[in-house]
Amino acid sequence: MVEIRAVGDAMEMALALLESGDVVAIPTETVYGLAADATNGVGVARIFEAKGRPRFNPLIAHVADLAMAERIALFDPLSKRLARAFWPGPLTLVLPQRRGNDIHPLVTAGLDTIALRMPRGFGGELIARLGRPLAAPSANSSGKISATTAEAVAADLGSRIRLVVDGGATPVGLESTIVKVEGAKLRLLRPGGIAAGEIEAVAGMALLRGAEGIEAPGMLASHYAPGAAVRVNAGKIARGEALLAFGGRRAEGWQGAAALRNLSVTGDLREAASNLFAHMQDLDRTGARTIAVEPIPFDGLGEAINDRLSRAAAPRDKIA
Ligand code: TXA
Ligand code: MG
Repeated sequence: MVEIRAVGDAMEMALALLESGDVVAIPTETVYGLAADATNGVGVARIFEAKGRPRFNPLIAHVADLAMAERIALFDPLSKRLARAFWPGPLTLVLPQRRGNDIHPLVTAGLDTIALRMPRGFGGELIARLGRPLAAPSANSSGKISATTAEAVAADLGSRIRLVVDGGATPVGLESTIVKVEGAKLRLLRPGGIAAGEIEAVAGMALLRGAEGIEAPGMLASHYAPGAAVRVNAGKIARGEALLAFGGRRAEGWQGAAALRNLSVTGDLREAASNLFAHMQDLDRTGARTIAVEPIPFDGLGEAINDRLSRAAAPRDKIA
């Protein structure tokens, strides 16, 4: 059974759940978020599982202050000015990641950029207490509208999560505005809680518009696509292929694989999701021409894992 606890009474339970790699629904000024420790791959996998998302969309990492943000990403002067003007608040900045940060690759769906935002109120305090950023998409199941009350979160996700922190109705009521600096230009990726005009006033320039399609990371030109060809649902491994394995039984011919990574020896899809991007990158780095992937079931997180793999396997001219 899910517990609904008022903000004044929820901090310790929320911290304990996050520390144990679980998810918590929290109020922010925009909409309720379904949060997990952004450095914990299993916790982040649980977000996708609870939402029933058929895809690994990149998530926003929420920070407590600018110092935490700068440990994660590289700020150009304009992004810094926008952060100073609008944080904490409903502005999300997409920035290049700082190399070697401890954000789990499932948060960014393997991208080399990251979306960052500093929320007001309980969320900000929770992140400061945890000392680590929180990954949090809107707290609704996939395909439903974002929840703006604790009751709406509980009604939708209550059977799949332990705690909803109740901060009342969210004041803004729609998601954050997402922008990205592109060279000397500034692009609006998603309209949201801060009007474009307010951002333009601070930036001193007009926003570029019309880059839809950020919902699907596989469509982004900047998305990590392996150099190797990817062959999914491989029942037989050819000599010299790199093998992305799943579960306890190996596909025929596995002994000839040039390299092997197992997403989950025990066949745990949550563990597999958390390992997906790192293992793909490891195998790609070996220089093998093909990564053969053993069959992965489609239930639970398997759907999103298979979606991501089939994108990686698609002809390259379809990706960019
Ligand atoms: O107000 C909000 O932004 C809420 C609260 C909980 O903070 N969060 C939210 O998250 O709306 P979500 O996951 O529902 O939407 C995040 C959006 C998605 O459209 C995703 O594609 C985009 O951010 N996004 C995340 N990382 C990105 C990146 N590196 N580049 C481009 N778009 C990105
Ligand atoms: Mg959403």
